[in-house]
Amino acid sequence: MTRAAVIGTGHYVPDRVVTNDELTRWMNTSDEWITQRSGIRERRWVETDADGKVTETGAEMGAKAARAAMDQAQVAPEEIDLVIYATLNPDCFFPGNGVFIEDLLGLKTAGAMDIRNQCSGFVYGLAAADGFIRAGTARTVLLIGGEIQSTALNLSTQGREMAVLFGDGAGAVVVQATDDTDRGVLASVLHSQGRFAKDLWLEAPTALVRERINQDLIDQGRHYPTMDGKLVFKHATRRFCEAIGAVLEKGGHTIDEVDLLVPHQANQRITEAVGARVGLPPEKVFSNIAKYGNTTAATIPIALSEAAAAGRLESGDLVVTVAFGSGFTWGANLIRW
Ligand code: UT7
Repeated sequence: MTRAAVIGTGHYVPDRVVTNDELTRWMNTSDEWITQRSGIRERRWVETDADGKVTETGAEMGAKAARAAMDQAQVAPEEIDLVIYATLNPDCFFPGNGVFIEDLLGLKTAGAMDIRNQCSGFVYGLAAADGFIRAGTARTVLLIGGEIQSTALNLSTQGREMAVLFGDGAGAVVVQATDDTDRGVLASVLHSQGRFAKDLWLEAPTALVRERINQDLIDQGRHYPTMDGKLVFKHATRRFCEAIGAVLEKGGHTIDEVDLLVPHQANQRITEAVGARVGLPPEKVFSNIAKYGNTTAATIPIALSEAAAAGRLESGDLVVTVAFGSGFTWGANLIRW
C-alpha cells in the first residue's frame, strides 16, 4: 500500500515585525487587550512602498518557503508532480498562486492548483495530496500555505477586532509516496457548514457586481474582512475537539498516543481550551501565535516547520494537525512522522 509521507518542511515570514504597540498608532487598542484576548504579541507584515504596493508577492513568499522544504527533503524541481497552494488571499483573482510558484521554482510544467479553504486550507490540501498520491496521480506533491493578509485589513478602530489578529507568511511541505506503511498520512477528516459563510468572510471584490468593485462597496467597508468573533470562537473550540477525536478514531489511535498536536493558530485561548478538553498537556500542543498571529492557511505549515527545526517532530511521532475557519470549514489530519 502506498502512503503519503511528509519528507520536508519550510517556512518564510517577512522581515517586518509589527508589535501590538505599533497597532495603537492606527486604532484604539492596547498590547494588554490583544495579549489577554488572543495571546498575540507581534505579527509579520510585508513591506509596502509609498503607493501602498507590496514589495514581495504571496507567490514569492510561497516560493521561498517551498525552496526551504525542497532543500530539506532533498527533492529536485523535476521531481515535483503537483503544486497545491492553499490561501484565502491569492495575488490576483485568477489564475491561482500555484502557477506562479510553478514558474518561480522552474517546475517544468508540473500540475498546479489552488485550494481556497481559508484557515483549514492546509488540512484540506494535505488530504488532497494524500489522495492524489495514493491514487497514483502524483508521486511528489509540493503543498504550500501562504497569505498576505495585511493589505486587506481595516486599520481603523472599526476594524480592530480583525486587524489585530492576522499576519503574513508562508509555509510549505513536500509530500511523497512511500511504501513504508508505518509512515505518512494515516487519516483525514474534512467538514463544512456553509450556513455560517457570512459570519467570517470578505465580500468584495465580487463577481456579482459589474466591475467587481465600486465606490459603494468601498464606502460601506465591504472590501474588508469581517467576522462574528464570539460565534467563530465558540464553533472553533467545539469543532477542533470533534475533528481531533474523529481523525484519531478513523486512524485507529487514541489521544494518549499523540506526540504533538499542531492546531491552527487562531487564538491562544482556543488552543489552550482545545488542549485541555482533549486531554493533552501543554508541551504536546504547539503554539507560535505570539510571534505571528493568525496566518490562516500558512499557520500549520509554518508551525510544522518550526516544530521540526526545534526537534519536536521526530521520525515515528504521531502528529495531529487540525484547523477551523471561514466557511465554516474544518478538518484534521493524522500523520505518522
Ligand atoms: O481562524 C479562524 C478565524 N478567527 C478566529 O478564530 C477568531 C475567533 N474569535 C476570537 O478570537 C475572539 O472572539 C476575539 C479575539 C476576536 C475577541 O475576543 P472576545 O473576548 O470575544 O472579545 P469581545 O468580542 O467580547 O470584545 C470585548 C470588547 C468589546 O468592547 P465592549 O463591547 O465590551 O465595550 C470590543 O469592542 O473588546 C472590544 N474590542 C477591542 N478592544 C481593544 C474588540 N477588538 C478590540 C481590540 N482592541 N482589538
